[in-house]
Amino acid sequence: MSLLPKRSAGQPSKLNQILDLDDFDRAARDRLPQAIYDYVAHGSETETTLRTNRTVFDGWRFVTRNLVGVTERDPAVSLFGHRYASPFGIAPMGGSALVAYDGHGVMARAAAEANVPFILSANSIIALEEIARINPNTWFAAYQSPNANAISGMVERVSRAGIPVLALTTDVPIGSNREADARAGFGFPIRPTPRLSWDIATHPRWMASVLGRTLLRRGYPHIVNLEPDGGPGLFSTKVRGIAAHEGLSWDHVRMMRELWKGPFVLKGLLSAADVALARENGVDGIILSNHGGRQLDYAASPIQVLSAAITEARGMTVMIDSGFRRGTDILKAMALGAECVFIGRPFLFAAAFAGQAGVQHAISLLSRELDRDMAMLGLCRVSEMRPELLIAAPDAA
Ligand SMILES: Cc1cc2nc3c(=O)[nH]c(=O)nc-3n(C[C@H](O)[C@H](O)[C@H](O)COP(=O)(O)O)c2cc1C
Repeated sequence: MSLLPKRSAGQPSKLNQILDLDDFDRAARDRLPQAIYDYVAHGSETETTLRTNRTVFDGWRFVTRNLVGVTERDPAVSLFGHRYASPFGIAPMGGSALVAYDGHGVMARAAAEANVPFILSANSIIALEEIARINPNTWFAAYQSPNANAISGMVERVSRAGIPVLALTTDVPIGSNREADARAGFGFPIRPTPRLSWDIATHPRWMASVLGRTLLRRGYPHIVNLEPDGGPGLFSTKVRGIAAHEGLSWDHVRMMRELWKGPFVLKGLLSAADVALARENGVDGIILSNHGGRQLDYAASPIQVLSAAITEARGMTVMIDSGFRRGTDILKAMALGAECVFIGRPFLFAAAFAGQAGVQHAISLLSRELDRDMAMLGLCRVSEMRPELLIAAPDAA
């Protein structure tokens, strides 16, 4: 019996042309104002890290095991006491409301339906309490202000909402330099520059189905998950640098660890020394990440530091994101010791193109890739993925 998610009977026919995760990028590009598309798709400065996040996977080839009998394939993984159907999940992405109507709700529902991990961003106009009701397994990624009252209030709020896993995003001490946004006249707070106004006016479908619908249904949007009692209005000057907290340090990690009783995850680490510090400070899991090439340009790609991180993790759950698009990418990370892979942009573009059905289709496509890859590699469980099944590509640097 197949363990793959079923294709829903009412799936929109436009999804038939979407064959892999990158197809969602092209499909969403046509629908979104250029500035919104650029905000999601691009990285910082020269975008070297953004590009390397994809090319890095060229560095390995598989050595298959054959004739092992692979009829009973199951890609399920257990993370923090929950058994998920797949070893990949949806990374936290702020600004989703600008990309798709009810963006975070759509992704939360699709993830619940497919039983894959979903992490809610603090930069959301939908309250974490509402998302937790939609998907009780939602994890929350805090952009935490380093203020003791804000920390204790936020931890209490997340705990009261019944969220099982709290993550702290650690790689945004300050905002990065994303020139594509500047060129498009886009930034937070959103300001109607002539260029942006023209961009929006020439995308009436987006204006009606995303912006108009959001304003009609939710009123003036606020970024509601930044502080214990909410956060600033989307168009207010207070949203400038909402995620940036220069003063955040290991002292605050210790404070959060003490207050939060459930699994606690740090997202955005790259250095083995930081992995060791996370472990010493009682953290339960890490997500190695360079923020999808959106923060420090020329930052290492997480899979390049995975083996060193595993050596220091000793019992912590090691997860990873940035640039993963294929079942084979996921299996490479699993061979090197990762337990779960998170993916960002494609799910957001899938929501932009076809709402919840789009995200479900994205999950289903990736699940099918993974399933085929497992069969051809000779695996029934992803935990059977081992370093011996990989070799360095002959032409790899
Ligand atoms: C539009 C966008 C918004 C993001 N917002 C957040 C956020 O609010 N919090 C966070 O921890 N990471 C955020 N990220 C980073 C993602 O969680 C993730 O690390 C990254 O997208 C993974 O790379 P990928 O898009 O290549 O899969 C964002 C990424 C994108 C594309």
